[in-house]
Amino acid sequence: MHDVLPDKSALWQWLEGRVAGVLGGYGYREIRMPILEMTELFKRSIGEVTDIVEKEMYSFDDRNGDSLTLRPEGTASCVRAAMEHGLLHNQTQRLWYQGPMFRHERPQKGRYRQFHQIGVEAFGMPGPDIDAELILITARIWQALGIQGLELQLNTLGTAPERAAYRAQLVTYLEAHHDLLDEDSRRRLHSNPLRILDSKNAAMRDMLDAAPVLRDHLGKESAAHFDFVCQTLNEAGVSFRINPCLVRGLDYYSRTVFEWLTDRLGAQGTLCAGGRYDGLVEQLGGRATPAVGFAMGIERLVAVIEESQSAAVAVAADLYLVSVGEAAQRVGLVLAEQIRDALPGIELVSNCGGGGMKAQFKRADRSGARFALVLGDSEIEQGTIVLKPLRSQDEQQSLKRDALINYLTRVFGR
Ligand code: HAM
Repeated sequence: MHDVLPDKSALWQWLEGRVAGVLGGYGYREIRMPILEMTELFKRSIGEVTDIVEKEMYSFDDRNGDSLTLRPEGTASCVRAAMEHGLLHNQTQRLWYQGPMFRHERPQKGRYRQFHQIGVEAFGMPGPDIDAELILITARIWQALGIQGLELQLNTLGTAPERAAYRAQLVTYLEAHHDLLDEDSRRRLHSNPLRILDSKNAAMRDMLDAAPVLRDHLGKESAAHFDFVCQTLNEAGVSFRINPCLVRGLDYYSRTVFEWLTDRLGAQGTLCAGGRYDGLVEQLGGRATPAVGFAMGIERLVAVIEESQSAAVAVAADLYLVSVGEAAQRVGLVLAEQIRDALPGIELVSNCGGGGMKAQFKRADRSGARFALVLGDSEIEQGTIVLKPLRSQDEQQSLKRDALINYLTRVFGR
């Protein structure tokens, strides 16, 4: 679990703002859910035999003896909230959320125990158009963040009955190759055989690549659904690779699933992942409601942006007010308020905590400010302020208050 320090938080804010801007442009509205939910919610939605539920949840009994869990993901909470507040009755919903998620995984680069997601969920739309829209949104988000070179992988998991028929065939195939299965896969053979398909074990790769694929077992509707998504992406110029082994680590998916991957973060290369989950609302006790969504990991996005330096995020102040002497400290704070009134949005840091001229200029320099404003006893006597450029060789000038504000308005153009 990490602290996000001030030198990084500007990039986080920039990223969150950009993504929120894109989502707003498609009519998605933010929903904020609690970080704790009943443990049962995650067991029933993510699946009892998934890594998350079997070994990664932070669960504890509260004072009433109820088992609560720090949310490991947002989809289950979002469905719970939408059901609880009647957002799913005879209407469609386009929602997004962001915040911390918790999984007790083995930490490594790009994989943390507290991490942050921005997630999107769309309810009430059964057709493939919304699947395609969500993927187009993700492509636009990469554009807005200046992230290039990602690979989009796509697959379809069909409907529950299609999957059940396929699952039987797959188990027969895997049983025939039992000697090649590693321990983990043998354990999953009857509980969650589809997960074996995305095993990272290179020794099993050839055998898995030759396994029967679910796409060959799709009914007409599922096949048409998937074709629509693929065709729309082609027409919109978003390239992708169909990966028949992409099955996702959560049990609630049906039909379309997708992941955006990078090769720049080592083993934890999935930046964004999601898919359709038409059965989940009903499974959690609601009326059957089609749904589809995705989530992206903010830490991983930040790492990719930092690595490629694709974002120039300003972390510098505009002005730093140096005030020497008690009178100047008082007058300075009031002057700073007047400048803020005249120039909304300007970033002005007042020197608080005293210090001599030299120490204050050192702080001014560290703040990244373009100008220092200097106030001392003599300036107060003359009713002036010294404006000293910190990032150029230009001469400093002594200005009356009004002239200073006029000058700053011209320079900062606000
Ligand atoms: P997920 O694949 O478990 O899906 O997580 C989505 C993204 O969260 C991952 O692609 C990754 O970027 C990030 N992530 C996951 N675990 C970690 C971790 N330990 N450390 C850092 N980043 C991590 C879901 O959570 C689904 N709820 C997505 C979804 C929404 N499907 C439908 N709607």
